[in-house]
Amino acid sequence: MIVNSLSLCYHNKLILAPMVRVGTLPMRLLALDYGADIVYCEELIDLKMLQCKRVVNEALSTVDFVAPDDRVVFRTCEREQSRVVFQMGTSDAERALAVARLVENDVAGIDVNMGCPKEYSTKGGMGAALLSDPDKIEKILSTLVKGTQRPVTCKIRILPSVKILHLKLEDTLSLVKRIERTGIAAIAVHGRKREERPQHPVSCEAIKAVAETLSIPVIANGGSHDHIQGYLDIEDFRQATAASSVMVARAAMWNPSIFLKEGPRPLEEVMQKYIRYAVQYDNHYTNTKYCLCQMLREHLESPQGRLLHAAQSSQEICEAFGLGAFYEETTRELDARRGKLLARSPEEVEEPAEDTSGIIKMAVKFDRRAYSPQITPKMCLLEWCRREKLAQPVYETVQRPLDRLFCSVVTVAEQKYQSTLWDKSKKLAEQAAAIVCLRSQGLPEGRLREEGPSLHKRKREAPDQDTGDPRAQEPVLPGELCKKPFLALASGKESPLEGW
Ligand SMILES: Cc1cc2nc3c(=O)[nH]c(=O)nc-3n(C[C@H](O)[C@H](O)[C@H](O)COP(=O)(O)O)c2cc1C
Repeated sequence: MIVNSLSLCYHNKLILAPMVRVGTLPMRLLALDYGADIVYCEELIDLKMLQCKRVVNEALSTVDFVAPDDRVVFRTCEREQSRVVFQMGTSDAERALAVARLVENDVAGIDVNMGCPKEYSTKGGMGAALLSDPDKIEKILSTLVKGTQRPVTCKIRILPSVKILHLKLEDTLSLVKRIERTGIAAIAVHGRKREERPQHPVSCEAIKAVAETLSIPVIANGGSHDHIQGYLDIEDFRQATAASSVMVARAAMWNPSIFLKEGPRPLEEVMQKYIRYAVQYDNHYTNTKYCLCQMLREHLESPQGRLLHAAQSSQEICEAFGLGAFYEETTRELDARRGKLLARSPEEVEEPAEDTSGIIKMAVKFDRRAYSPQITPKMCLLEWCRREKLAQPVYETVQRPLDRLFCSVVTVAEQKYQSTLWDKSKKLAEQAAAIVCLRSQGLPEGRLREEGPSLHKRKREAPDQDTGDPRAQEPVLPGELCKKPFLALASGKESPLEGW
């Protein structure tokens, strides 16, 4: 039997189960804080991962696997490196191995999902569909065991021939014996059949039969709600299934402090801690919101639940939980860190300089809160161009690979305008460019409490100054305007409705 050299021990462990959307970095770190020994990431599909580039994110101190559309598909950090298991969805041994090799230096273990009954997984021959193709299972697992340095595991469900009362388990037991022979380090067994849903009882007997048959560690799963409601129940479930370890999904999603020996922490405290990690690691706000909704569950109709439901940004989520100041402070620190990285000489980042001398620049940012929701600088600029019978403004936006921030240049009457501050999104960068154009022309830009719309009413402001927005007081970063190579994102005529 082949045994991987760099083994993560799967004996006697508390494990955070793989959960799509839930098992992202903030949740995994939180589960570790509360006592989980091993944390699985959400299932990530092989084809998606194979499009990703591994990027060291110096500002966040993370390693990111970034898709061509610039989405971070998998983000991890040193803190979890020895405890995180990467779960993939695959139906092909070669692809599986390519993914394992892509991530193996950043994770502690590689897992193959063989239990997901959802159509998006099974129709590609992945997840639970694999259970009816033992030859493929064998090929995938033995290829991984031979080809990766990390311990390989898989997560299965029990097979349909199981009859709980008579313990007719031949199919499941012969499958797991075959799986064990591939040399995997452990196997997680969700004690339900493929067509069963969480409301069906989990079969502790089936998991136990597997545990008594195999010599590798068996990880019992499926106990949330009926068996596992608190920390002590985890050990009871382990004993009832005679398993080596227990993997918890829903109970941990509802309150990750379930792993805490001393008992669970109040949900409010847990959610705050979760949010702090989410902000610190720049988690996408929709994912943060989803996870918080799972925790709030029956309190979604509470005033806090309503605020969460309405939140459209990480900042608004923070404000709903009384963490507005924390958000400000953390994003300021992150911006400063990014600034320092950017201040490194262009030679360090091997970017040729670009002549930007003909562009009018100011250090401004678009702060939504300072503008009326119906009027944005882009709208004002478009309106002004129409009135002056000028061609529509043309925005060209670039993204800097180093930190993936955006900068937009707007061209109006053959003159280019640009903010020297980089933004988190293309939309914000375009608004900032529009502000530079409007301010340098002394035009109204739609700020709240701004004087009437007449042209040339505002006093001209000197370039590189901004009077209103505190964030715009940030220093212009040396060399930031000549960073290359840029990833050109968009160039085209402004549509009156776009981005508003
Ligand atoms: C929101 C959610 C997402 C899930 N995503 C995955 C997944 O990505 N991979 C996987 O193998 N199982 C996934 N599962 C199944 C769980 O890992 C687990 O097998 C199941 O919930 C039973 O465990 P429990 O009783 O502790 O909840 C998911 C479950 C939930 C609730």
